[in-house]
Amino acid sequence: MRHTLIAGNWKMHKTLPEARELVTALRAGLESLRGGDAVEVLICPPVQLLFPMAKAVAGARIMLGAQNAHNEPHGAFTGEVSVPMLTDTGCTHVIIGHSERRQLFHEDNALLARKVRAVVAGPLTVIYCVGETLEERESDRTRRVVGRQLDEVVKSDVPADRLVIAYEPVWAIGTGRTATPQQAQEVHAFIRERLSATYDKPTASRIRILYGGSVKPDNAAGLLSQPDIDGALVGGACLSPDDFLAIISIAAGLPRK
Ligand code: 13P
Repeated sequence: MRHTLIAGNWKMHKTLPEARELVTALRAGLESLRGGDAVEVLICPPVQLLFPMAKAVAGARIMLGAQNAHNEPHGAFTGEVSVPMLTDTGCTHVIIGHSERRQLFHEDNALLARKVRAVVAGPLTVIYCVGETLEERESDRTRRVVGRQLDEVVKSDVPADRLVIAYEPVWAIGTGRTATPQQAQEVHAFIRERLSATYDKPTASRIRILYGGSVKPDNAAGLLSQPDIDGALVGGACLSPDDFLAIISIAAGLPRK
């Protein structure tokens, strides 16, 4: 059985007072949520908030993750933060390969492969993001692109129990345009098949594959009820406690996979 994971990627949002307000509301909402234990909840705030947010979530069922990490443990890399440093904060997860990192910061599969290995050596859980652009989808290259993002980064030396995949079609991120549940399921099934080739079928069937890209309370049920969609990586909607809690509550109400 795969435990549903609802993760919030705060991106570059929230000052400390704003973050405290958000997490206070989230904690209160989670305490009163029935069946909430069926869902794992993760927040990934910007790096300056990790220490205070670790305190803010203490004792609550909220895990803490980072949005990026350097592949080296230390060194002359001005402005960067390493996995051991993130571990100090109480982080358990790190997002690697988000499309914004790929596109805006030119991170390629070779670099991401090193970052993924640094995270799992942490030993933390990596949420490795894959996804095609609109142009790639329209020219029927989704499988080729996503297959490559997996093959060049996820090899059998990456421990499956520290790996989560997030499928985030680039055209659905921050656009309000979501993949239909069928479009998402199709790619998720493809990803699971690819993971079966890298690991084996039983192992691949235990790896969680999240969907990300304009997940909102009104489309979450359709997406999360698909057989290979094991949770969501939520951007915009995780900045509102009401919306994020609504998505968690929808996930909690769905049958386990
Ligand atoms: P939106 O939910 O704002 O589209 O962002 C998705 C995302 O990039 C999560 O990592």
